[in-house]
Amino acid sequence: MNKRTFLKNLGLFSLSPFATYPSMEELIHSASLVSPQRLAEDEKFWENIRQGYRLKSDYINLENGYYCIQPQESLDHFINHVREINYQGSYYMRTVQTENKKATAAKLASLLGCSTEELIITRNTTESLDMIIAGYPWKEGDEAVMAEQDYGAMLDMFKQVAKRHGVVNKIISLPINPSSDEEIVNLYASAITPKTKLLMVCHMVNITGQILPVRKICDMAHSKGVEVMVDGAHAFAHIKFSVADLNCDYYGSSLHKWLSVPLGAGILYVKKENIPKIWPIFGDSGPKEDDAMRLNHTGTHPVHTDLTINNAIDYYLKIGAEKKEARLRFLQNYWTKQVRSLPHIVLNTPEDALRSCAIANVGVKNMKPSELADTLLKKFKIYTVAIDGANVHGCRITPNVFTTTKELEALVDALKQLGKS
Ligand SMILES: Cc1ncc(COP(=O)(O)O)c(C=O)c1O
Repeated sequence: MNKRTFLKNLGLFSLSPFATYPSMEELIHSASLVSPQRLAEDEKFWENIRQGYRLKSDYINLENGYYCIQPQESLDHFINHVREINYQGSYYMRTVQTENKKATAAKLASLLGCSTEELIITRNTTESLDMIIAGYPWKEGDEAVMAEQDYGAMLDMFKQVAKRHGVVNKIISLPINPSSDEEIVNLYASAITPKTKLLMVCHMVNITGQILPVRKICDMAHSKGVEVMVDGAHAFAHIKFSVADLNCDYYGSSLHKWLSVPLGAGILYVKKENIPKIWPIFGDSGPKEDDAMRLNHTGTHPVHTDLTINNAIDYYLKIGAEKKEARLRFLQNYWTKQVRSLPHIVLNTPEDALRSCAIANVGVKNMKPSELADTLLKKFKIYTVAIDGANVHGCRITPNVFTTTKELEALVDALKQLGKS
């Protein structure tokens, strides 16, 4: 099918008030010849994707950063898995549970670009990264490097190892509009001393949406003998990358964020050579020393969530990693470029398009972030989240694949009106 027929078909599917929407397969097939950049601007295509979600009509949801709700397709699979596990009871757990989880981990490993022995399925990023911070073989006086814009739970865990093991934490602050990657790399480098063992860096900063030059930071840190742990809570299934390209030592992410898995699933990658040295939080003498499974004995857990990871991966791959990323970046640029230069607006997200994707943060001068979030919800029916700390003051705005440009126009109008009041 050529591009013209494709667009015409989409029009047929979606313009009529009595429209019957195409199946996901028909939709994806018809878009297969269109480039991610072209498709990103095709409202009709994404309107069809939107039909696969059940969305509340009370407000426009621009807070998809906490977690991403599932499309109905995955939700139906999830409910079926819950029914089936309840039907099979412990028979399931004692027969195929382990091999099913391994098969799912293998799919995730292939998406992330690592070997299956290097990846485990956890409950979330917090569990993944805290296992590394707490299990690292610290000695008194060792140093760790991180940024004040990192996630609170991990910063707290570093505070704990400082108290417990005498680790010294060095904390930098990230500029929002760096002049170059080197500015960021040098900032991290300036905090490293001969005592530094581990550097934590966000792949995508959750409060600003800023994407950091992780590969360059890893190369710099390794040249000084320092290992790097990446907080990828927001990056996996949001932007396309491979952990092999990042060259990091540890990578954690939450699958209930951009992969749209039911709540309570995450991943931890540990580079093979580092696996033996991490102390497991949950003891397990079964797996080999260099198998990440030795860190994964979390006890009985919701296996129906693990099973749904397969369905969520299928859904993600149907849309396509490049197409999803291009649409999310398009959506963010769509609204930020309309307000960035307004005198009463402060954008806490890099202007350079490749330094961010879906997430951005906006402040209104002389207005507290909590007041802005409250006004956006009560007056304009737009749901966001206020961020007020670590040098970032504004509301985080996070669209998802179901967000329309019309919804973002409502945000732009609201922000413009706030300048007049
Ligand atoms: C950067 C970052 N790291 C870690 C987390 C923790 O994720 P979870 O609560 O899924 O463990 C979040 C949650 O929003 C985050 O934004």
